[in-house]
Amino acid sequence: MVDLSIDCAGIKSPNPFWLASAPPANSGGQVQRAFDAGWGGAVWKTLGQPIQNVSSRFGGHDVRGVKAAGFNNIELITDRSLEVNFREIYETKKKYPKHAIIASLMVETREEWKDIIKRSIDAGADGLELNFGCPHGMCERGMGSAVGQEPKVNQEITSWAVEYSTVPVLVKLTPNVSDILPHGMAARRGGAHGVSLINTIKSIISVDIDRFVPEPRVGGLSTNGGYCGAAVKPIALHMVAQLARHKEFGLPISGIGGVSNWRDAVEFILLGSSSVQVCTEVMLRGYGVVEDMIDGLESYMKSHGFSTIAEMVGKAVPQYSEWGNLDLNYETVAKIDPQKCIGCQLCVAACQDGAHQCIHPQGSDLAKKLGLTVLGAGPAGERVPVIDESECVGCNLCKIVCPVPDCISMVEVDNGYAPTTWNEHVSQGKDLRPKKGAH
Ligand SMILES: Cc1cc2nc3c(=O)[nH]c(=O)nc-3n(C[C@H](O)[C@H](O)[C@H](O)COP(=O)(O)O)c2cc1C
Ligand code: SF4
Ligand code: SF4
Repeated sequence: MVDLSIDCAGIKSPNPFWLASAPPANSGGQVQRAFDAGWGGAVWKTLGQPIQNVSSRFGGHDVRGVKAAGFNNIELITDRSLEVNFREIYETKKKYPKHAIIASLMVETREEWKDIIKRSIDAGADGLELNFGCPHGMCERGMGSAVGQEPKVNQEITSWAVEYSTVPVLVKLTPNVSDILPHGMAARRGGAHGVSLINTIKSIISVDIDRFVPEPRVGGLSTNGGYCGAAVKPIALHMVAQLARHKEFGLPISGIGGVSNWRDAVEFILLGSSSVQVCTEVMLRGYGVVEDMIDGLESYMKSHGFSTIAEMVGKAVPQYSEWGNLDLNYETVAKIDPQKCIGCQLCVAACQDGAHQCIHPQGSDLAKKLGLTVLGAGPAGERVPVIDESECVGCNLCKIVCPVPDCISMVEVDNGYAPTTWNEHVSQGKDLRPKKGAH
């Protein structure tokens, strides 16, 4: 039996999957349908002085046939009245007492923070999330990422919120900074109970090349927006891990950014997230995506012997280190499984032009000269390429481009050299293995 329930900074929910503050968490009707579909919590669409949105407001970055691999928006915070939002939070919390409802907030003055925090808690919010992250529209008004980019302001507003709140306070951080650490630490100094990250990344998604206007187009103009969706996951993972591994940080993290499936969620948890928030994947495919996320997480936990989420949180953090601590003598080479290869030659092009020129068409002059042959004929016959392992630097590129799962594997080579890091090489003069691919 595995237990999916979590406690993230004192906010409890039946599973780690929360809707991020965004259109899918805009209203009571939506959040209730999401809870019925299986979501464990919801961070309500940011509350503040209701705004007027523009039309259009979203853009998609399609990559080689994959629609909206990246997503962009120029939407602001809630456009609905605070009264309506608070009434719906109250009704939803009453109906779903075990699910987490977190009120995302963004206002300006100390008095406004005091007032909106009281009203959120009166409405039944289990926690607050301070939106210091929105990179468009609100920052021009001195809110959102304008706060998140200034550690002093972040700390001060966080301390007001903590003073007025009787429920846990999460600070939502902006990724539009060169180093996330000072901003996480500012939230910590302000007394935050946890942080959530990332909000969206400043971006221009594309340009209408006939009208000469960037997208999304509002009449004849556009503006920069916030980038999110599957494409931002690597950036989000890095920022989460940066905080998780810092010895003095120590706050719970709610991980956000490009989570599209259970595996992404597991990665966020292993790098230090106690809960995982999702926006774009739900916008593109609906609340039902949580079913597979729950099933996949449960199977993963069973197969890896985890009985609680807490046991998983941060498991990969100690293995995230500096480049200078990596073993320079560790060596791998690529191997092709001729039974799986379909002979597409993608790996040949990639290695020839983008790596170290050591994959060759079978039967080519060079392959003949080097005496390279394929062991065991496969269905692709002579179209299975050959690898000159003596020149392979183990970079992974061929494995990345190969369309067939597990056709190319990176195999560890025992080269007789003891593990040596750059730091050890410099400080103790330890031997490095001979360079490959430097011809
Ligand atoms: C259309 C849209 C509206 C958003 N509105 C808010 C908001 O009101 N408050 C907020 O904190 N984040 C907002 N976000 C950011 C998301 O909560 C989330 O941080 C970001 O999209 C990254 O997650 P994802 O890759 O799963 O989309 C919005 C995102 C989108 C796409
Ligand atoms: S791992 Fe890199 S160097 Fe080796 S065969 Fe593949 S692409 Fe070429
Ligand atoms: S990319 Fe993969 S399938 Fe295509 S030729 Fe290379 S090894 Fe074979």
